[in-house]
Amino acid sequence: MLRTLFVFCAMFGVSTAGIAAEVTYTKDIRPLWEKKCAACHGASAPYLGDFKENEKKFKAQFKGPRMDTYADMVFFIGWPDTGAIMRRLDDGKSAAGGKPGNMYQYLGATDEERQKNLNLFKAWVGEGAWKSNRWEARGNVPAITKEDMDKIKVKY
Ligand code: HEC
Repeated sequence: MLRTLFVFCAMFGVSTAGIAAEVTYTKDIRPLWEKKCAACHGASAPYLGDFKENEKKFKAQFKGPRMDTYADMVFFIGWPDTGAIMRRLDDGKSAAGGKPGNMYQYLGATDEERQKNLNLFKAWVGEGAWKSNRWEARGNVPAITKEDMDKIKVKY
């Protein structure tokens, strides 16, 4: 079986390393989320609607909006909270202001770890899909375009 796969890959010029490197929710993002985000965004955290009703209280308890399933996480990437993951996790190099998002710090204890995990998130969201735009325009930031939405991968 492995031999067949190897021959197949060699024939078509696909590298097996490339296949292994595909970032998925179950293999990469979920374990990372459990280590770095679950404490504040897990099952005991409120859904975004509830969070917004009582933001002050939840912030004081270190509870952010709940994102403990694949669907609940994609909510903060595609719609309705378009680009929230990208704005909050970015290291500031993609944004015009140059300031890191306030969740970037939680990606790791060292700059090296933070960068590694940021790149994992970026690869998962999709090449060219790491955009800070919201569903609707705000200030001088235009709304997300269909073209940008098409680049979102978030493979399960
Ligand atoms: C120590 C607690 C804590 C940790 C750890 C944490 N967060 Fe948060 N997060 C919060 C709180 C509290 C808020 C809401 C306050 C705010 O908007 O800053 C928030 C807000 C967010 C938002 C904005 C949601 C929105 O409605 O726009 C996103 C996205 C987010 N976090 C993602 C993450 C990710 C991904 C991780 C893991 C890498 C993470 N957070 C780790 C506490 C945390």
